Amino acid sequence: MWRLAHDTIGTSDLGALADWLRTEPRLTQGPLVAEFEDAWSDWLGVEHSVMVGSGTAANLALVLAAERRLGRKPVVGVAAVTWATNVTPSLLLGHPVVIFDIDSSTLGVDEGQVISAIVAGAIDILFITHLVGFDALTDAILDAVNRWGVTLLEDCCEAHGVCHGDVKVGTFGLGSTFSFYFGHHMSTIEGGMVSTNDPKLADEVRLIRSHGLARESSRSVAHARAHPDIDERFLFVSPGLNLRSTDLNAFLGLRQLVTLDDRINARNRNLEALLAGLPVRVRNRYRTEGASSFALPLVADDEEAARSVRRVVDELGIESRPVVAGNLARQPFLAGFDVTVYPTPHADHLHRLGLYVGNGHHVTTDMVGNLTRHLTEELAP
Ligand SMILES: Cc1ncc(COP(=O)(O)O)c(C=O)c1O
Repeated sequence: MWRLAHDTIGTSDLGALADWLRTEPRLTQGPLVAEFEDAWSDWLGVEHSVMVGSGTAANLALVLAAERRLGRKPVVGVAAVTWATNVTPSLLLGHPVVIFDIDSSTLGVDEGQVISAIVAGAIDILFITHLVGFDALTDAILDAVNRWGVTLLEDCCEAHGVCHGDVKVGTFGLGSTFSFYFGHHMSTIEGGMVSTNDPKLADEVRLIRSHGLARESSRSVAHARAHPDIDERFLFVSPGLNLRSTDLNAFLGLRQLVTLDDRINARNRNLEALLAGLPVRVRNRYRTEGASSFALPLVADDEEAARSVRRVVDELGIESRPVVAGNLARQPFLAGFDVTVYPTPHADHLHRLGLYVGNGHHVTTDMVGNLTRHLTEELAP
């Protein structure tokens, strides 16, 4: 069966992990976490990365650290189509949230709505999501955030290796987040990363990751000097949680990183085959420059075509799901929070008429060709 996702952790990874475990290594946040963080920073092209337990933990740490860098409660702008835990940290932290429509060709935020909100001073942070491996940035959005002093954060949990121009996304804002959950471009079982070029932000994230303890900070000596009455080993200088990962996850991350670029190329070949073979009435006009395909979107133009797409996918035994979670503005978890929703016609279209099927090393261009052939027969004019 063509499943939504398949584990990228194979038997050779598990064998190597078992051998390593027999050496009785340090298991929780030890040298391998630091090694994986450095390897990730090199691969992405940033100065600092902080490994945490999940993409969700990364989002929480990044949003809280960004609030502390700003020094006030920010208004946070997000896309209508993203994962719930892109928004949940802001809800829990009491940030007013503004939800923007998406652009049908990038599945990222609508440029016009975002820029008008930025110019009107309506948001302090733009937490953009690069959805299903498309580049959600535009030069106009980048110009606007820089010109009007809005803090850009990037949720790259589905976007390992996506580029804007020649530069990997996850390097454009104050900070970015990645998920290494099962089914993503690479996996550490569970896992996440916050990446940044800002040493102060990295420091805040390290404190938030580990209980707020001063000894986690690169400024531990200065913290200790400022509080001579408190044992420096148990000095809490920031609100913190336990969002740590383990060396076991980092061991897998280091191995997965070696094959990541090959996996991305294979995913992109599948996306190319899909978009070249789709019939009319199923959207094939995406901005694919710089993509690193996470999943294969099938967004129909109308109800009848959407029914045909669902029928073909089901008959071929292909597992499918809504595009991420559809229009989040329709989800009940937002009730009771301070949320402003701009008109979301494109997110609604995706919600009603879109689904996606899985992409990854378990999918071949032949499988994609078979799907597009059946879709073309079903939707023949
Ligand atoms: C866009 C986006 N953000 C955040 C997350 C959360 O990542 P995790 O499942 O590792 O918590 C996901 C999960 O798939 C995601 O797709």
